Amino acid sequence: MHPPTTFETERLHLRPVQRDDATLIFQTYAGEEEPTRYMDFPRHRELAESEAFAERCVHCWNSGSAFPWAIIGKQPMEFMGVIELRLSPPKADFGYIIGERFWGRGFATEAAKVIADWTMEQPSIYRLWATCHPDNVASARVLAKAGLMAEATLANWVARPQLGEVAIPSVVFARLKQR
Ligand SMILES: CC(C)(COP(=O)(O)OP(=O)(O)OC[C@H]1O[C@@H](n2cnc3c(N)ncnc32)[C@H](O)[C@@H]1OP(=O)(O)O)[C@@H](O)C(=O)NCCC(=O)NCCS
Repeated sequence: MHPPTTFETERLHLRPVQRDDATLIFQTYAGEEEPTRYMDFPRHRELAESEAFAERCVHCWNSGSAFPWAIIGKQPMEFMGVIELRLSPPKADFGYIIGERFWGRGFATEAAKVIADWTMEQPSIYRLWATCHPDNVASARVLAKAGLMAEATLANWVARPQLGEVAIPSVVFARLKQR
């Protein structure tokens, strides 16, 4: 199963992450303190790490192991962040990250909704899930507005390198389809 390569929403264009997005990835979020606070990957210290991530995104699209889209604002046209979907029927999961200067204007919600709605329309998908740090209130709101509900807290789920933690809890959210 392969999702559409692009999605259009009122204010956003989603298209596959490309190799030459690396500098924008680094400058917009991956090398920045606030956006990476709750992330499970170490903050990028060098552009080469964002280049490796962009390269990985291209390979993921080609292999179908994950589908990372760049979130592009339409007016003005600018790179805002990344949203990634992984399909593993009967379930799928996703995650997203946006540069701090774009926060609080509903962009993550707009991107999450279009991806969540497409995913749940697929006949073979019965569960869409995502996790977030218990203190990540903004992300929990985005997930709720994309139709996911908090299901459980998973102990020792993930490392949070920016918090100096090797195994801390995450809240799992899910949107379910009746069989
Ligand atoms: C989480 C994130 C994607 C949200 O992006 P965004 O574009 O600002 O999100 P939206 O504007 O669509 O919605 C944010 C919601 O959270 C709320 N919110 C934001 N900051 C908040 C805070 N500190 N406390 C409570 N609510 C908060 C907003 O009010 C809004 O809810 P509302 O529409 O009910 O008012 C962004 O902060 C980010 O990229 N963070 C770093 C990466 C990350 O945490 N990714 C998710 C991993 S699970």
